[in-house]
Amino acid sequence: MSGYGKLQIGNVTLDNNIILGPMAGVSDLPFRLLCREMGAGLVCMEMVSAKAITYKNKNTNMLMEIHEDEHPVSLQLFGSEPEIMQQAVEMIKDRPYDILDVNMGCPVPKVVGNGEGSALMKNPELIEKIVKALCQVSDRPVTVKIRKGFTEASVNAVECALAAQEGGAAAVAVHGRTREQYYSGQADWSIIAQVKEALKIPVIGNGDVVDGPTAKRMFEETGCDGVMVARAAQGNPFLFREIKSYFETGETCPRPTSKEIYDTVIRHADLQLKYKGEYIGIREMRKHVSWYTVGMPGSAKFRNQINQMEDMDSLKKACGLLFCNEANQ
Ligand SMILES: Cc1cc2nc3c(=O)[nH]c(=O)nc-3n(C[C@H](O)[C@H](O)[C@H](O)COP(=O)(O)O)c2cc1C
Repeated sequence: MSGYGKLQIGNVTLDNNIILGPMAGVSDLPFRLLCREMGAGLVCMEMVSAKAITYKNKNTNMLMEIHEDEHPVSLQLFGSEPEIMQQAVEMIKDRPYDILDVNMGCPVPKVVGNGEGSALMKNPELIEKIVKALCQVSDRPVTVKIRKGFTEASVNAVECALAAQEGGAAAVAVHGRTREQYYSGQADWSIIAQVKEALKIPVIGNGDVVDGPTAKRMFEETGCDGVMVARAAQGNPFLFREIKSYFETGETCPRPTSKEIYDTVIRHADLQLKYKGEYIGIREMRKHVSWYTVGMPGSAKFRNQINQMEDMDSLKKACGLLFCNEANQ
């Protein structure tokens, strides 16, 4: 029976099976740390290019940094050449990631044009080859993240997932949209159910889970072993605590207070500054702060302000005012 609980992926045991999905430009070290603290069972890093690892690219190196309190954490690679991906995995074998994941879902033309990301779904044989090559050199579990298919006319998630399993994958995550759909329309959970039905290894469902009740529904409708949440966690790391509480008590727990959101924004900003410096850190925070404040009274006007913030002092001042007003309403 599937549902909320521990999840075994190869030799890694997750405390719980609610997972922060990989998001380029979002699931960086500070955000992952907050999500983990709030109870995410596993946090997935932003995708990094296997080729860039082999070139010792400096920016890629920064993306690959993790904090010791994040574990378990999954590093996601994108690439299409088994030998290069294998080489990248060998180069990072001393880094403490718990799981290595392969991106087979990215829809961006630049990536797809190189035969990477979701383009791999056009070639299940290559999927098997890549997974096999990585399993040969990795003592960590290798997982893959796929979509429903490349187009609606070529839905083949089951075939691709079976190829990954055959290659030695320890789990498969399935986003129930085609590449053609990008992030639009509704995710098709029936494809997740079909993959689950066909595989022996754990299947993680993904797409449109936004709270405890939707997570529960995904478990029930698909039989999946874990649920991955991405967009709903933006500006809302509290979501993991809320989902956990929902499964434990059957009730939706109260939203965080303005004070807690404010404190979290400041902690998030402090972490950004620590790891990226003030110039980049504050610019990165702009989008996070807009997400944290969605729906708050005065937040539309506030967003213009936040987009011009250049330093921590101005961020603290503006957020202080907004959250203080909210608390006094
Ligand atoms: C801004 C953004 C960046 C993303 N980056 C990645 C990525 O690097 N790797 C990946 O496999 N999926 C990536 N995704 C896809 C998500 O992991 C997830 O599959 C998708 O958003 C559907 O889940 P959701 O409905 O919970 O958001 C990204 C999505 C968004 C919105």
